[in-house]
Order: sequence, then structure tokens, then C-alpha cells
Amino acid sequence: MSDLFLRACRGERVERVPVWIMRQAGRYLPQFRAVRARVDFLTLCRTPELAAEVTVQPVDELGVDAAILFADILLPLEAMGCPLVFAPGEGPTFPEPVRGREQVERLQRPDVGESLGYVFAAVREARQRLAGRVPLIGFGGTPWTLAAYLVEGGGSKHFAHLLGWSFRDPEGLALLLGRIAEVSVAYLRGQVEAGAQAIQLFDTWGGLLDEERWRRLAMPPLLEVLHGLEGTVPLIYYLQGGAHLLGAVAELPVQVVGVDWRLPLRSVRRLVGPGKVLQGNLDPAALLAEPSVIEREVERMLSEGAGGGHVANLGHGILPETPVENARAFVRAVQERSCGS
Ligand code: CP3
Repeated sequence: MSDLFLRACRGERVERVPVWIMRQAGRYLPQFRAVRARVDFLTLCRTPELAAEVTVQPVDELGVDAAILFADILLPLEAMGCPLVFAPGEGPTFPEPVRGREQVERLQRPDVGESLGYVFAAVREARQRLAGRVPLIGFGGTPWTLAAYLVEGGGSKHFAHLLGWSFRDPEGLALLLGRIAEVSVAYLRGQVEAGAQAIQLFDTWGGLLDEERWRRLAMPPLLEVLHGLEGTVPLIYYLQGGAHLLGAVAELPVQVVGVDWRLPLRSVRRLVGPGKVLQGNLDPAALLAEPSVIEREVERMLSEGAGGGHVANLGHGILPETPVENARAFVRAVQERSCGS
């Protein structure tokens, strides 16, 4: 069994930098599109055999050092009683957004084994199919990022509903965040019990807040989730657009901090300190250039990340337009060029 990725997450000295790609099970892969042509997105999530199949695809195709479960961060919100719609060609939407305390009180406290058991079954099935080749990462969203989608009713440009609520009635919004945290602990513990060997929390929208408000609003429910998982598997906290928050992020009880490309890893290291493994952070758009450019950019990323624990990745999800050959060039460049840290 290759446990290079897990050893790197734990901060151990490793023979080379491991690499995986956010959204590696996705539309840039022809094999994924072939499965998606047969079933819609939510059916794919709810069918453990198919979810496990696409989870393993990038391991076969790219030779990445870890698999990430095929699922979505928004699934637990549906389990709380909020209908979730993925319309073709659009992002996710919640036709009944939650925008006040009365609606928070009506949210369900689901038995995750019942309502999200299909995710746990996909974890078990994926572990079986991987047969120890590489570790399996489970994941969820942070309470703040999940609330961003639920309050807005989908993606958003200005997050006016969420941010308006946060100034008008922060205690009411905190009730929502607390409810999401509660479900998230059960959901993520369920993934670990089913066989997930690391957990990544996606904080795609954490960077909307300044540090003082992030500490007051987003950090307490996030800590509740992290404490609920402490002592289980390595934890990865991924933050997008949040370079101004890295001083606070350094205090989180996680082994690994994932970052986007906006700040070079050397600067991230200065802000986060020596205690964390860093994950990232090549600009996903770099994979739209030819392999020689990708190799040069990988070299730059690896030298920025040297001298501390590093797990190579992109700074956000791989773009659907990426040629598979370029994704392969990225993985190969890391695996050939990196040496132990
Ligand atoms: O990384 C992986 O390969 C595992 C699977 C995975 C998906 N979503 C599958 C997916 C993971 C880890 C996610 C996380 C996720 N989902 C996040 C956090 C990461 C990030 O991008 O910031 C967020 C915000 C979501 C919610 C979500 N799901 C959005 C906003 C969208 C639409 C945008 C898009 O890329 O289409 C999705 C859909 C989605 N989730 C797709 C995939 C492969 C594409 C839909 C499809 O196949 O039709």
C-alpha cells in the first residue's frame, strides 16, 4: 500500500512530495463524461458503484498519490431538509433558501446513516476498488461555506443575503452555522468509519470575511467540526481567497493547510509558521499551457514549498477545459522533480 500521502500529511519526512488534484474526478476526464452522459449529477452521487468508479478513474489515468471520494459538499444540506437542484449547465441551487431564524428552526436533524448512507457505501466501495493502491480522502464543506450556498440559494456574486444577515442578526446566523456543524461532525465521522483515510474541509468562501469577523462568525462552528474529528485521521483545511486569514488559520487543529495560488508558498509558510504541512498551489489555468510551461511552473511551486511539509496540488479545482495530457504532465512533473523534505 502506498501511504506516501498520509505520511506527508502527518508531517513525516518523505521520499518525495505527493500529488493529487482538486476535482480530479471531473469533467476534464472523458471517462467521467461517459458516466455522466448516462446519469445526472445527483444520481451519480447516490449510486455507490458509479461514485466509486469515477473516484478511481484519476488514479488509473493520472497516477495521483491519493483518491478523493466522488460526492459534493452540499449533500448534507439536502439531508437537513433543503431541496437541492443541479440543473444542467447551471451550478447547484437551493430553491428554498434559508434566510432567517424561523427557517433555521424548521431544519431537520437527520440520522446521517439513513439520509447519507449512500455516501458511506461509496467510501466502502471505493476503498475496496482501490485495494490499497493509494489512500482515500473524504471531504465536506466548512459550515461558513455551506451556509453561503444555502442562504444565497446557490452561487452568488455579492453574497448579499449571507453578508446582510451576518451584520443584521449575527446570533441568528450563528444558529444556522451551529446546526450545520452538528450534522457535519456526524457526516464526516461516518465517512471516517466507512474508511476515509483523511478528511478535507473546503472553505471556498471563507475569504469573504475580514479576520475579526471570520474569527467571530466562521471559526467557532469550524472548530466544532474539527474538534469532533480530532484524533481520527489527518485533517486538511482548504481556504480559497483567504490569504489575509492565514494568521488565524495557523491556530486551527489541522495537520494540513491548503491554499490557492494567490500567495507563493514561501509567503504562506511565513504566515502559517512551521507547524503545518502546506497543500497546493498551482494556478489551475497553468494546466491550459503546454507541458514545458507546466514543468517550469511545477518547479517554481516545489522550490517555494521546499523546507517544510508539502503536498502538491492545484490552488483550486482543475478546469473542465484542461487536456488530460496536461493533467498527466502536472502529476509527472511533481513525481519526477520532487525529492524528500
Ligand atoms: O474533487 C473531486 O474530484 C471530488 C468531487 C467533488 C465535487 N465537488 C464533484 C463535483 C468535490 C471535492 C466537490 C467540492 C465542492 N462542491 C465545492 C468545494 C470546492 C470548490 O470548488 O471550491 C463546492 C463549492 C461544491 C459545490 C458545487 N458542486 C458547485 C459550485 C458546482 C458547480 C460548479 C461546477 O464545477 O460545475 C458543483 C458541481 C460538481 N461537483 C461537479 C463535480 C464533478 C460538476 C457537475 C457535473 O459533473 O455536472
